Order: sequence, then structure tokens, then C-alpha cells
Amino acid sequence: MVEEQKDGVILDVSVAVPRYVLSHDALAEARGIDPDKYRYGLGCEEMSVCGPGEDTVTLAAEAAWRLLKGDPERLSRVGMCIVGTESNVDASKSIASTLHGLLGLRPACRVFDIQHACYGATAALQMARSWVRQYPRQLALVIASDVARYERCSPGEPTQGAGAVGLLIGAASPRDACLTLSAVSGTYASDVNDFWRPTYQKTACVKGKFSVDCYLKGMVEAYDDYKAQVKASAVPEHMLFHAPFPHMARKAHRRLMVHQGHTDEIFLADDYRRRVEPSLWANRRVGNIYTGSLYLSLAALCEQEGDDLTGCHAALFSYGSGSCSEYFTGRFGQAVARPGLQAMLDARDSIGVSRYEVLSDASLALEQNQSFCEDIAPRKGQPFTFLGIRDHERVYRQNEIGRRGEDFARERVESLPRAIPGRDPGVGQRPLLDGVAG
Ligand code: COA
Repeated sequence: MVEEQKDGVILDVSVAVPRYVLSHDALAEARGIDPDKYRYGLGCEEMSVCGPGEDTVTLAAEAAWRLLKGDPERLSRVGMCIVGTESNVDASKSIASTLHGLLGLRPACRVFDIQHACYGATAALQMARSWVRQYPRQLALVIASDVARYERCSPGEPTQGAGAVGLLIGAASPRDACLTLSAVSGTYASDVNDFWRPTYQKTACVKGKFSVDCYLKGMVEAYDDYKAQVKASAVPEHMLFHAPFPHMARKAHRRLMVHQGHTDEIFLADDYRRRVEPSLWANRRVGNIYTGSLYLSLAALCEQEGDDLTGCHAALFSYGSGSCSEYFTGRFGQAVARPGLQAMLDARDSIGVSRYEVLSDASLALEQNQSFCEDIAPRKGQPFTFLGIRDHERVYRQNEIGRRGEDFARERVESLPRAIPGRDPGVGQRPLLDGVAG
């Protein structure tokens, strides 16, 4: 019997979202905007909001933990961990290094971050695929994690969100994969200032409409590059687009279809409903998670369609401002991921606009030196908590659920941060944390 050839494939997909959720109807009312603009014009219903103790790192660690928990064999085989992010918390230390510690990954491991706006996770995914082909006994973690922040009351504010997506990459036959990606990708790069975040700012700068134009141009160019390399390809049953707001995927689908010569409005609407819409339900409920947003659509599609996806083709388009675009395809195998997304989203605590504003101020306060606060309670099921900064070092706590013996090969209780009794958590910070720490 001839053994099926192994490829670098996506074996599993996980998601982590923070504790709170804000409805776009409430935000629209507070900002004096017609709610239909957010609901239908942008396609947004809810955005995830971080509580104290949640940041890009804890979300990344949770997504990785969900891929590994209860499976020591998986944990022992991880030899690479790459985090794609554009909301990093340190200008030097990688989030992947912190994950290495929190998860108890083995010492023989490559850990690093990739930053390229919303494209970082795709770059990480392509790198990990090649690497597992070279080291087929090992596994790679690719984690996309971001907290999307725009200025309050700006046009970008309704396109905020927070969350992480984890992809487990390994060498397997396409049949045993969740998704096997095409050998060929179409790419396009261009030096543009459509969206960026200077290192002295916590919120992004954006030329909103220009960024939409750059995205659409990048998509068409990357698609043409893909077609130039592929003589014949199956018509994909599903199309996944980077979705900073869900209506962007509709714009992208329309532009691509017109580019392919389809102009009939009834065909376009029906094609969108069949091939794009089923992947967008979670993006509507989470908001923009930057580099994870394309892969959130993948997780949502897996959860929605389940085993019906086996054998189906998908087209994926990834865009990162600045800019880099990549169009690629994939085929679903028999191991379609079940990330448990619906339950996770339903379990969030709903908040109003004033609480959302207090929480975003509090999370900025926790970014100051000496903001350390030991009594930040985790949400139910939260494996890791950010406790603030002490002597310029970020402090993370591994919660009880995050260190269950069977889940991790190495017990890390000794390295748990200890509260310093009587320590002043920082002048000016504590009042902001009061009332939100739990
Ligand atoms: N009811 C229904 N739809 C409405 C509406 C209403 N009352 N009011 C406006 N809309 C529609 C508009 O027609 C428009 O739809 P269209 O794009 O199909 O024409 C949509 O809502 C957005 O309205 P617009 O006036 O263009 O929004 P804006 O100036 O507030 O900016 C973004 C929208 C996306 C540019 C802004 O949210 C932004 O800058 N986001 C961050 C950057 C980003 O996500 N870029 C994407 C590429 S990476």
C-alpha cells in the first residue's frame, strides 16, 4: 500500500475571547449614530472587551492552552511557537517567550513574534508549514492575538474587538488534517500609510476609506498572482476574507467576483450568501481582532458546517496594512476543528458603554509601571491573568485551571508571581482599578 504523502497542515483551531461584550446598538446610541450604520453598514453586532487581567498575552496563551490542554503528547511535540500580533505589549520581549513559560513548552523550541499589521499570522502560518515539513515529528503553534484599539468616538471605534485564534500545525496526510493549504500563494506588497500605530500611541492611526481601497487593490493583485501560477483550480465552496468589519468581506467578494467577470446582481447576492456569509457570524459578535480575524472566520466556518466541510475547498485572503496581501486556497480533511466558539461567546458578560469606557481606561492604567495588583480575579475558565507591571516587568499568574497537572508536563507553581504585601500598586492607578478588578 502506498502511504499518503504528508504535508504541513492545520490540525486544529482554537479561539480565546475576553470576558466582556458590548453591543453595537448600545455604542451607536451613546455616540448618536444610527444603529443601522453599525449593524448593516459595517455588519457588526457586538465587540469583545477586555477586563482587567486580560491582554494580548493572556488571550494568546489561552488560545494556545486550548490547543494543548489535556494532551501531554501534543505539548511534548511543540518545537515552534510563533505569535502574530500588532498589539504587542513590549518593544523587545516576544509574547511567544512568555507563552513558552506559561505553557511549559520544552526548552528545545523556537519562539518568536511576527508583526505585520493584520498579516502577521498568515506569515507565521506559512513559515510553520514549511518548518513542519522539515521536522515532521514536531508541531508548531501559530497564535494570532490582538486587542484592536481606536480613538474613542472615532470612525474606527465600532471596529474594535479583542481575541486570539490558535492554529496547531503539523505534518499529516491531507485526509487527517482540518485544512491543507495550497502549495501556491498569490502575493502583493505595497508601501502605503493606510493604517499604522506609532510606538508612542496605544491607539491606531487610520485613513479609513484609503485602507479599504488598499485592501481591495491588494486582493485583486494577489488573486491575479495566484491565477498566474495555477493553471486550473477547483471553484472553492467557501471564501474567507480578512474581516476588520464583516461588511468588508462583502465588499471584497463583490470586487473579486466583478474582477472575474460576474456582474449579475442576483448571482452576486446568492453567491455571497452561499460562499461567504457562513463564516462571518463570529466576526459579527467579536469585532476586529486584526491578525486573527481571517482565522476567526475559519473557526466559525468549522463550527457551523462541521463534517460537511470535509472535501470542500476554501479560498482565503489575508491583508495587512502597510501593506502585504496573500491569496491562497485550502482543502478540508476529516479532522474539522470544533473550537466551541458559540458557547464561549454566549458566556461573556454584557456591559454598557460607561463600563466599557472605564474598562478601557483601566487597561491603559495597568500598562503603567507599578500597576501590579494581585487581587485581579480571573473570569471562569481563564487560565492566565495579567496582574500589571512591577519594577518594569509584566507579571502573569497561572490560574488553577491553567496549571492542572494532567494538562501540562511541567508543574510551574514555583514560578507563580507572589504578591508583595503592602505594596502600593501605583499612585494614580489604583483608583481606576477599584471596582473593576473583580
Ligand atoms: N444605515 C445603513 N448603512 C449605513 C448607514 C445607515 N444609517 N449610514 C452609513 N451606512 C453605510 C455606508 O453607506 C457605508 O456602506 P458602504 O461602505 O457599503 O458604502 C458604511 O455604512 C460605512 O459608512 P461610512 O460613512 O463609509 O463609514 P465611516 O466613514 O464611519 O468609516 C470605516 C468606515 C470602515 C472606514 C471606519 O470604520 C474605519 O476607519 N475603520 C478602521 C479601518 C478599517 O477597518 N479598514 C478596513 C481595511 S483594513
